Amino acid sequence: MITFAFLKKIKQVVKLHDLQFRPFISEEEIQQTVQRMAIEIANDLKDEVPVFIGILNGSFMFVSDFVKKYPKPCEVTFIKLASYEGVKSTEDIQRLIGLTQDLSGRTVVILEDIIDSGNTLEEVHRIFKNEQVKQLLIATLFHKPTAYKKDFKLHYVGVEIPDKFIVGYGLDYNGLGRDLPEIYQLKTTQHMTNLVLFGPPGAGKGTQANFLKEKYNLIHISTGDVFRFNIKNETALGMVAKSYMDKGELVPDQVTIDMLNAEVEKNADAKGFIFDGFPRTNAQAEALDKLMDSKDSQINAMVALEVPDEILVERLLERGKTSGRADDADEGIIRNRIKEYYDKTAVLKDYYSAQNKYFGVNGVGSIEDITKRLSAVIDTL
Ligand code: IMP
Ligand code: MG
Repeated sequence: MITFAFLKKIKQVVKLHDLQFRPFISEEEIQQTVQRMAIEIANDLKDEVPVFIGILNGSFMFVSDFVKKYPKPCEVTFIKLASYEGVKSTEDIQRLIGLTQDLSGRTVVILEDIIDSGNTLEEVHRIFKNEQVKQLLIATLFHKPTAYKKDFKLHYVGVEIPDKFIVGYGLDYNGLGRDLPEIYQLKTTQHMTNLVLFGPPGAGKGTQANFLKEKYNLIHISTGDVFRFNIKNETALGMVAKSYMDKGELVPDQVTIDMLNAEVEKNADAKGFIFDGFPRTNAQAEALDKLMDSKDSQINAMVALEVPDEILVERLLERGKTSGRADDADEGIIRNRIKEYYDKTAVLKDYYSAQNKYFGVNGVGSIEDITKRLSAVIDTL
């Protein structure tokens, strides 16, 4: 028996000309949408034999799949947008050509791959004004409601999408991408400063994070706080996390990532984020990269506060005197926590060093001096 599963390509970023696009709508989702539209239109049209008119070039794939799924008899034809020179020779006017058939008395359904500004649709209405069709229905696979500037009714819409450029499934960027069976969305790189803040217990991470978030207008995401918040407020993710913790099991990375994603989404217009307490493993670092990538962004740096063990022990014992934290009172426990930190985070130092994103910063000195050293790194990002 031959199995084709291994041939399935892992879908990832595609590069067309100078731009990068990321997977956005899967082939399966598109096919389901086309199927749903075909059934809906067939039900509405009852016994009519409609004329489906695709607008070339973009709609060729949609029309092909659509008519295959259309359960009743129908006719299919195409018209095409062509450029003419306007009154001024610099002016480029788009006109639809290719409508040769007599359509009087017929039910015509326009099949568009995408309706964006609605300019093309206006042109469609212009050329059908004098055709004595019984009815003119508009069906579009994709629609960008926030870009749409016209009042023409859209009778059937497959998927509403945000106002971002897409390619694939008939849609192109300067000629390329039409052949892709799924839809990809343009990556627009956001100018954010996203830091992973690191440091052994007692290094002063919390103090410095507070200064940095003020100075650079960043959102501080402490994984511990996020967990406590979600559990306390009994969010869906919080309850999932708790169910693992109650069994004494580790919360799966995906649950943590989903919580971080929610935090990032809550602050969609932030200048950047300080991640604190995450990632702790290679797998988590990769997951965080993926999350930032899905936001058209990236982790810019891992900034690690470096403090010698002896000073850390001194600081934590000092803190233990006032904080009442049992784990700050015992030198043995403290040394163990420090050791564990280095054991566990060595892999992350390697992970970010490999991308030239690791920055060690001397964490000994006055709070202001350390802030200055951190700022000097951040200002180069
Ligand atoms: P309109 O702005 O509604 O007139 O859309 C005009 C045409 O622009 C569509 O038929 C497509 O050919 C093209 N178009 C609009 N948005 C996109 C997109 O996101 N990707 C690729 N082509 C697009
Ligand atoms: Mg089109």
